[in-house]
Amino acid sequence: MQSNRSLEFFDRQFRRQVEARDFELNPFEQLVLPHLSGTMLDFGCGLGNLAIAAARSGCTVSALDASPTAIGHLRDAARREALPVSAQLADLSTYRIAARFDSAASIGLLMFFDCSTARRQLDEIKGCVRPGGVAAVNVLIEGTDYMDMFDPAGYCLFSPAEILASFEGWQLLADARHVFPAPGDTTKSFMTIVARKPAT
Ligand SMILES: C[S@@+](CC[C@H](N)C(=O)[O-])C[C@H]1O[C@@H](n2cnc3c(N)ncnc32)[C@H](O)[C@@H]1O
Repeated sequence: MQSNRSLEFFDRQFRRQVEARDFELNPFEQLVLPHLSGTMLDFGCGLGNLAIAAARSGCTVSALDASPTAIGHLRDAARREALPVSAQLADLSTYRIAARFDSAASIGLLMFFDCSTARRQLDEIKGCVRPGGVAAVNVLIEGTDYMDMFDPAGYCLFSPAEILASFEGWQLLADARHVFPAPGDTTKSFMTIVARKPAT
């Protein structure tokens, strides 16, 4: 897998979190968790805190990420509790989702791709959800000016209108915006959408 600044940034962060045993759900994962059920895809799972929490609440989870530290940690954590979690290393910028899921979550991933890749992979995520199932997507949006974690070769700050339009026809279950201060007097602006695919 090709290395880039975002992947290195997160692998370093995950090593620090494993060392500190810092496995709290972030606010986006807390928002999304109650909507997940059945077979669940975690597309860009990071350390797998959401994957573990979803499996504890009854989901059968397939989790994907490019960070060896994160995937190694998640496999160990799932094995310790005998939870139904499969965790695989994958480059999600080119990944094609072959299976269908009752729920699919992608928290904090798509902004690390150039916009045409991000749009294509958003369609992959929506496409893998069964009729009547749920997709949960969290991205950084326009207004974000903290850039340290982006690879200069490509990133995408969606507009909220584009995200909402892409879920047209789905039942909106949650639409949340969060703005956090970041180093150097900058900010990170997030949007989290949870939506149910039409049943037919
Ligand atoms: C902001 S973290 C989010 C992790 C997790 N979903 C969470 O909420 O804690 C971004 C994740 O995207 C992953 N990532 C970035 N680019 C990737 C790529 N090309 N393929 C797979 N994973 C990638 C990173 O390894 C990292 O785990």
